[in-house]
Amino acid sequence: MRAWQVSAFGIDSLEFVERSTPVPGPGEVLLAVRAVALNRRDLMVVKGLYNSKMKLPRIPCSDAAGEVVAVGAGATAWKPGDRVLGIFMQSWLDGPLTRSKARGALGGDIDGVLANCVLLRQEGLVAMPGHLSFQEAATLPCAAVTAWNALTTGEIKPGSTVLIQGTGGVAIFALQFARLKGARVLGISSSDEKLERAGAMGLDAGLNYRQNPDWDRWAQDQTGGEGVDLVVEVGGLGTLTRSLKAIRVGGTIAQIGVLASGTDAIPLGLILHKWARIHGIYVGSRKDFVEMNRAISLAELRPVGEEFDWSQTREVLERMEEGSHFGKMVLTVN
Ligand SMILES: NC(=O)c1ccc[n+]([C@@H]2O[C@H](COP(=O)([O-])OP(=O)(O)OC[C@H]3O[C@@H](n4cnc5c(N)ncnc54)[C@H](OP(=O)(O)O)[C@@H]3O)[C@@H](O)[C@H]2O)c1
Repeated sequence: MRAWQVSAFGIDSLEFVERSTPVPGPGEVLLAVRAVALNRRDLMVVKGLYNSKMKLPRIPCSDAAGEVVAVGAGATAWKPGDRVLGIFMQSWLDGPLTRSKARGALGGDIDGVLANCVLLRQEGLVAMPGHLSFQEAATLPCAAVTAWNALTTGEIKPGSTVLIQGTGGVAIFALQFARLKGARVLGISSSDEKLERAGAMGLDAGLNYRQNPDWDRWAQDQTGGEGVDLVVEVGGLGTLTRSLKAIRVGGTIAQIGVLASGTDAIPLGLILHKWARIHGIYVGSRKDFVEMNRAISLAELRPVGEEFDWSQTREVLERMEEGSHFGKMVLTVN
């Protein structure tokens, strides 16, 4: 098999290597990987910013779509030819997250999927929504499940207002799912052009946060002074205070990302006066993934992104670092 591996930290140190092709043992399934989607985490893993003590070499990336080519003894859930997706945390099948379920995240604790063959446990897979290409479906395991759980946490229903930050993978899925649930969506971005693209996908109102850093006030104005029901928070310390100002009393912050550094102390006064719920999200379980896929199939929802060949892995990671992308970036594996 062929794979990209992190042999030393740094995008330039990524190596394209040959490894022996694994043979499925009991309960295991061998996939021919057709497409891999990138997440911000993969960039951090490659650069050594995710876990500087990670044992190397490591195959990066968590999100693969592929075709079953062989199954081991007792792996009766799948057969050759099935189109499947790997789940992010291979041991989190159902119920709340626990310490042991959090171990075994692909492309982090264990080797990931940026390879033309991957061996996974049969329960570490879900079926691909039938209407999607491998490239489209590869975007789902991390960013989409995370966005789905953010909306679940926020108890979003028709008429709710959701605020998304930026136009990256998680935010664009949150926009699509919020629209699916009948919510109003406000969005902030560094780019007017990206806001226009999001507008064409159903974003109700957008604001450029570079030109208008007071986006919390804007969100209040947009909701008649009440505040939004949910902020899909990808900024972290650099945006949390404004997110707390932007939510309604009793509103929710789905704490997902750490993109924006900040020096503000945690605003405890705001948290209690706003009766705020700040809920950490760490992707989700296999059960969440299956439920989300059912909704995606019913609505025939299509993920949004750009496609590249996996020979361009280094360039695509650099593009992610620049932040010029919109939605997801996907590598076709051949
Ligand atoms: N907790 C989890 O389970 C989980 C899962 C997935 C991702 N994450 C984390 O969530 C974050 C986003 O991930 P992603 O995959 O969506 O990343 P991404 O595709 O690289 O998107 C990043 C986008 O965020 C926007 N952004 C950056 N700084 C911002 C700021 N100060 N205010 C508002 N928007 C800002 C930018 O959008 P514009 O270009 O439009 O300005 C940027 O393009 C990352 O920190 C990632 O590690 C966490």
